[in-house]
Amino acid sequence: MNDSGGPLNGKAALLTGGTRGIGHAIARALIVEGVDVCLTGRTAARVERVASELSEIGPGRTVGVACEVSSHDDCRRAVSAAVEAFGRLDYLVNNAGVGIFAPVPEMDPADFRRVIETNVIGVFNMCHTAIPAMRRTGGGSIVNISSLAGTNAFAGGAAYNASKFGLNGFSEALMQDVRYDSIRVSYVMPGSVATEFGGNEPGAGADWKLLPDDVAEAVLDILRFPSRALASRIELRPSQPGSPGRGR
Ligand SMILES: NC(=O)c1ccc[n+]([C@@H]2O[C@H](COP(=O)([O-])OP(=O)(O)OC[C@H]3O[C@@H](n4cnc5c(N)ncnc54)[C@H](OP(=O)(O)O)[C@@H]3O)[C@@H](O)[C@H]2O)c1
Repeated sequence: MNDSGGPLNGKAALLTGGTRGIGHAIARALIVEGVDVCLTGRTAARVERVASELSEIGPGRTVGVACEVSSHDDCRRAVSAAVEAFGRLDYLVNNAGVGIFAPVPEMDPADFRRVIETNVIGVFNMCHTAIPAMRRTGGGSIVNISSLAGTNAFAGGAAYNASKFGLNGFSEALMQDVRYDSIRVSYVMPGSVATEFGGNEPGAGADWKLLPDDVAEAVLDILRFPSRALASRIELRPSQPGSPGRGR
């Protein structure tokens, strides 16, 4: 157990896609809170660099593991690395995701597959490999980062909408699969967040979009609820999207 931090102090988390954007903000918030974080991303060099930078913050410890979430073997290795580093696994935050947008007739089938394999199958892979370790720890929380695109379809969004609608259904079923193992499953549905997601320019829309820290705060709020209370879903939208139809 660390000497400082917040009420989550001494817990251990596995976080996918912690190298930038929302995942980076979640990693930082957990570490400041005293949670030990194993973060992942696809590129080993970037994962190592970010883990090394974040380990300067504390009080939570940080390790990094390269992991392509669509690979079940990679996910199993990431879970093993987290448990080896921290001796326990309390939290799994499934944040890694991609957005590729095109009308269905114009969409490259490989892109459609990539979105589903990352945003849905990747979350299954992580849950499937992490839940046994969480059971051994005595329970915990799984938080999936979905999107308002998981309830609101839009033109050009077929792949992304399908993935996030699917992730919502997956999360609700999983919640019922594991609740009596003392594992609480939640999902967060942000509207537009100022990140490089989907090829956005860094900082674009930061005058009206949510910031990654806002989503991190929602995740920590979920984890801070007393264990008898399950905040199963949070919708988080920019207060003032600017003009009707611009963001949600
Ligand atoms: N930005 C938004 O407006 C917004 C709104 C609602 C929901 N979301 C959701 O929030 C989550 C994070 O988005 P973001 O805006 O922070 O995006 P981002 O800046 O593009 O970051 C995505 C993260 O996921 C990792 N990643 C991507 N594909 C991966 C894969 N196949 N395996 C492992 N890691 C992978 C990336 O690392 P590497 O590239 O190093 O692998 C990176 O760390 C996503 O699930 C997204 O759908 C975003």
